[in-house]
Amino acid sequence: MDHRTRRIATRLGHAGRDPQAWRGAVNPPVFHASTVLFDSVAALEEGDRHPFDTFNYGRVGNPTADAFERVMAELEGGYRAVSVSSGLAAITVALLAMLKAGDHVLMVDTAYRPTRRFCDNVLAGFGVETTYYDPLIGAGIEALIRPETRALYMESPGSGTFEVQDVPALTAAAKRHGLTTMIDNTWAGSVLFHPLAHGVDISIQAATKYIVGHADAMLGVAIARDKPTFLKLKRMAVMLGNAAGPDDLFLGLRGLRTLEVRLRRHEDNALTVARWLQSRPEVARVLFPALPDDPGHALWQRDFSGASGLFGIVLHPVPKAAVAAMLDGLALFGIGASWGGFESLILPAHPEKLRTATSWDAPGPVLRLHVGLEDPEDLIADLAAGFDRLGAAAAGGEGA
Ligand SMILES: Cc1ncc(COP(=O)(O)O)c(C=O)c1O
Repeated sequence: MDHRTRRIATRLGHAGRDPQAWRGAVNPPVFHASTVLFDSVAALEEGDRHPFDTFNYGRVGNPTADAFERVMAELEGGYRAVSVSSGLAAITVALLAMLKAGDHVLMVDTAYRPTRRFCDNVLAGFGVETTYYDPLIGAGIEALIRPETRALYMESPGSGTFEVQDVPALTAAAKRHGLTTMIDNTWAGSVLFHPLAHGVDISIQAATKYIVGHADAMLGVAIARDKPTFLKLKRMAVMLGNAAGPDDLFLGLRGLRTLEVRLRRHEDNALTVARWLQSRPEVARVLFPALPDDPGHALWQRDFSGASGLFGIVLHPVPKAAVAAMLDGLALFGIGASWGGFESLILPAHPEKLRTATSWDAPGPVLRLHVGLEDPEDLIADLAAGFDRLGAAAAGGEGA
């Protein structure tokens, strides 16, 4: 049965499952295995001839990984997927697989901070030069491409500030120069945006976020457009010794079954909270492409089928202590990194400290919110009480 003709919610329920192979069990079992035994030397040698198609050794693959990777490849419309131990590992495997000493990579200025760190430290140390580019550059990227440029890396919407990139225009320009294109597609959870359909070569997913969906596992996956790209990714992951653990793969696989439903609720809740935030006098701007007045709305509407629950706000200038008073007293929003779980989170963000190709000059502090699956009215009440604390602390600070 080819699930690709069916809608996403249906495919997520059925892809990667084979009950007959597992004595009727709906879900594939969790394989805890390092060593795999062969009947004969001939069988061992046959396995070595197809290292990525058979079950040879725990680090190279196992049926739990295979089931997870099948769903991911189908979801993103790719040839095959490579699962690894975290989202960051998927990013670094993809960059290392496609770049070598003397190469140049174009990296979006709004990339996830550890991605930048990897470029500035590891890639630079290995003789790969990185140029950061404006997320809104679009087809203008062509002016930055040099003879030694080999890869274009995108992340859309951007980390912390949520600029939407013109992925089709960027990819078309990159293809004219033979570059490999890759994107961090975590915000869209592999459901709301399909980069490979726009010509991108590698889609990267921090499955730790929406795919696992319950804040209880680390998992990453890179989905390749074609066989040569898959082989480069898989060989690099194997050479680096990076593989996901079976229990984390199981949690990723389990999360995939409810992903579409959860994303819809995240979107509804996030829109309710974001619209309320727009009405608040403390808020200067809401950074969320799903809102009609967001500068990225037109591109988001053209390319995405929905929004997830992660967005930002810019507050009017207030002392740092007032922001802390707001956040410290929140009962439902946790203060913590990561996102994509069922629970709401909030965090101060500092885009002004990260960028090098562009500047961020909003006068007030930026907060990143992850709106979870709770009732949005309760979340709004929690934030309203937070704004009361912020106002009181700001007034106290002024009077002091
Ligand atoms: C946009 C984005 N990409 C990648 C990652 C990395 O994922 P992981 O924490 O699984 O390494 C994160 C984590 O916060 C992220 O926000």
